[in-house]
Amino acid sequence: MTHRARKPYIAGNWKMNLDRSRSLDLIKTVKGRLGDGGDREVAFFVPSIYLADVTAVAQGSPLGVGGQNCWFEANGAFTGEVAPRMLREVGADRVLVGHSERRHIFQEPDDWMGRKVRTALDSDLLPIYCIGETLDERKGNKTERVLKRQLESGFEKVLAVDAHRVTVAYEPVWAIGTGETATSEQVATAHRSIRKWIVQRLGEEAAGLIRILYGGSVKPDNAKELMSIDSVDGLLVGGASLQAETFLPIIEYDR
Ligand code: 13P
Repeated sequence: MTHRARKPYIAGNWKMNLDRSRSLDLIKTVKGRLGDGGDREVAFFVPSIYLADVTAVAQGSPLGVGGQNCWFEANGAFTGEVAPRMLREVGADRVLVGHSERRHIFQEPDDWMGRKVRTALDSDLLPIYCIGETLDERKGNKTERVLKRQLESGFEKVLAVDAHRVTVAYEPVWAIGTGETATSEQVATAHRSIRKWIVQRLGEEAAGLIRILYGGSVKPDNAKELMSIDSVDGLLVGGASLQAETFLPIIEYDR
């Protein structure tokens, strides 16, 4: 299966940015431009407090709306956490798991990842499982080892039948929010090793259904080049997803 057999997936991660009214304006603008969505999948990952309002505005459009994190229990004494079914209840259809800011700022360990991905799937949410190495790990030639370790944990409870609902995002930590994008060569090498690992784990056919996105300083002027890399199925965009002027040209990278 070539990468264009998989539908391009362009996702915006707002992180802890925007306010309610700017969020809704952005959703309205992108929804208006998107029409029926055509040949690509577009989604926003939104602060959970705005999810109900954002999903109400996105309704009737092909725009996906997701949470930026979730816990792996259905309920209980977990102050400050959000259960996957709660995200579902306010209209989210997807969720980020293991974003580097969760791993590095909030110290989320590898051994939560498999349970988070599994609970998301069981709660009818489409997970994007985020992985990526730090600068020190890259300099120490540990990139492949780190990606493998992160894949082992996130895919711990993923079966071949789940594959069509799972996405992986390769986001090198040193490229996030720094303006420094990985080179095409670095992206291609990382994506190839990720796909190889998934093929070994789930088999060729199931692995062929899983999209692998790139994230890290994606901008309108590098989106086309990144999307031209054979192993890149989509983009996970932070800063440039906060404004229609920068996000729309990324969605329309090939126009
Ligand atoms: P930036 O596009 O701001 O580098 O963020 C990338 C990211 O972390 C998306 O999840």
